[in-house]
Amino acid sequence: MIFHRTSHLKGEVTVPGDKSISHRAVMLGALSKGRTEITNFLQGADCLSTIDCFRRLGIEIENRPACITIHGKGLDGLKAPGDILDAGNSGTTTRLISGILAAQPFETILTGDASIQKRPMLRIMEPLSMMGARIESIKGNNCAPLKITGAPLKGIHYCPKVISAQVKSAVLLAGLYAESPTSVTESALSRNHSELMLRTFGADIRTEGTTATIFPRPLLEGQKISVPGDISSAAYFIAAGLLVPGADILIRNVGINPTRNGILKVAKSMGGNITLLNERQEGEEPVADLHVTYSPLRGTAVEGEIIPALIDELPILAVMAASAEGTTVIRDAAELKVKESNRIDVMAENLSAMGCDITATEDGLIIHGKRPEEKPLQGAVIHAHGDHRIAMSFAVASLIAEGETNITDSECVVISYPGFYEDLRKLCRG
Ligand code: S3P
Repeated sequence: MIFHRTSHLKGEVTVPGDKSISHRAVMLGALSKGRTEITNFLQGADCLSTIDCFRRLGIEIENRPACITIHGKGLDGLKAPGDILDAGNSGTTTRLISGILAAQPFETILTGDASIQKRPMLRIMEPLSMMGARIESIKGNNCAPLKITGAPLKGIHYCPKVISAQVKSAVLLAGLYAESPTSVTESALSRNHSELMLRTFGADIRTEGTTATIFPRPLLEGQKISVPGDISSAAYFIAAGLLVPGADILIRNVGINPTRNGILKVAKSMGGNITLLNERQEGEEPVADLHVTYSPLRGTAVEGEIIPALIDELPILAVMAASAEGTTVIRDAAELKVKESNRIDVMAENLSAMGCDITATEDGLIIHGKRPEEKPLQGAVIHAHGDHRIAMSFAVASLIAEGETNITDSECVVISYPGFYEDLRKLCRG
């Protein structure tokens, strides 16, 4: 797909539902008694993989454009799937469902696409094994395919080595079934959507600082869930709004949960003009509309506790940094190497191709930015490596680049934002 520079970015956009929250709504709906209705569900390939897995586990799920209806059967309502479960490209599906499967009275084989089969699973195999499940990496490389043999579980207090909401959530979901309470203590708080949604469905879950404790065998009841817009998807429009001269855009209905909103803090500290309007609650989740206008940006340091609150936004942040005045240093983000692609290497490779002075480090990136008036990015051939967040980041970079940008595997945006290019074009015409 070919992209060109734009001199115009105006209008309104409503981003699709949050990916993390959409996954969790399906999972908890399946484990609850009665009907769960989900509106503004993200119809991206990853969340559809979660629906497919739960259908195979015997849960009836109706998928109509306006509403997903799940006919939940309670904690003990899943049945052995007739076939292998396929999580596609979705790390969230793979890791969270493993926590549930660890407690089932049957064996499951769980796999995914080529990218999933390279992503580390030891991080969930360890705690779930400590709880009593048997989880084997079939190829012996600590990656999927996994053979999960469920068992009666015991509660544990787990302190993960990596800060990961997927690990925390897998352990807490397994904790629903354990004989005694299960706690997870993180070194910094990762996104807390599981904790918030477990409470909504009726679980007894208590949080204190970075520790979450779940008490076993609650009676979960079906709910009506309205999913807020995904701040990780909004981030591409935030960046475009800040970077394109004269831009003035409104992004409606964006989730601004404090464990996710690091991009707002960092963009503002870079000089970004972002105003939060109409702040409100959607269930347990805070939501706002974001007004973004063109702003000359300056470099910054991004490190420490804020990293988990913007981990998926680091690729687009690197694009912003490339056109900011001065140097941006991203540290403490080694997790980027084990996402859908190695995002440290892939960002360095592609931003270099566009003429940016960028160095990959062990745990981040050093970006020597130049204001576009001084040295604009140059159009280039971009290899997204099948990674939706890379493709979207470079579609935004192309809007301020001189010449043509060609993103080779641009269709991978279906993972989290099927209508992304259309929405971006509308703003360029707006
Ligand atoms: C997610 C957690 C994060 C994030 C991913 C979604 C979730 O991964 O990168 O896109 O829904 O829990 P980690 O938990 O591995 O950091």
